[in-house]
Amino acid sequence: MTAPRRARPIALFVIFLTFVATVAGLAGGYLMFRGEKTDTPVAAIGGPFDLVDHTGKPRTDADFRGRLLLVYFGYTNCPDVCPIGLQTMAAALDAAGGAADKVVPIFITVDPARDTVAVLRDYVPLFHPRLVGLTGSSEQVAAALKAYRVYAARSKGTGESGTNGGADEDYLMDHSVFTYLMGPDGRYLAHFRHGTPPAEIAARIRAAR
Ligand code: NI
Repeated sequence: MTAPRRARPIALFVIFLTFVATVAGLAGGYLMFRGEKTDTPVAAIGGPFDLVDHTGKPRTDADFRGRLLLVYFGYTNCPDVCPIGLQTMAAALDAAGGAADKVVPIFITVDPARDTVAVLRDYVPLFHPRLVGLTGSSEQVAAALKAYRVYAARSKGTGESGTNGGADEDYLMDHSVFTYLMGPDGRYLAHFRHGTPPAEIAARIRAAR
């Protein structure tokens, strides 16, 4: 009777230890897996682009080597989100003080059909005197969106088109609204969600090398 009584707690303890080790192993494996999943896309954000700026000058990513880039993707007809994003960008540059001098703020349109050079020329100075607007052919813009893993598509909910006889020019775009900070070598440094306080972006700019 006594032997089984002692053996049982020991056996239970061994089972318990095995269980703990298994859980720890699974958790560790999961964290490593998760780390890989988040690292891979981050490392792949950015890359070559070949666009035209708001003055009509061709610009590629190589033109900006040696500078930090603060990149926002959006469109000029965006009713509220893009203007707020660009105002945040401008406020972050103001908050960064002297460190802002090494930053080129960039607005890349997700809507090249409407955002021509002329439209961007009127639009970008509303937000920051140094803001560079970039557009291009639909293929050129699509390539830039792909490089930065930006989602953009005409919205299904084009309420305006129903009220004005379905004019094609009235549509909204669904698009991702991250702001990207790219390093002097053109590589990804950080991204900021919509609503990130300008001071937080400014701090990251000051810390960037
Ligand atoms: Ni927008």
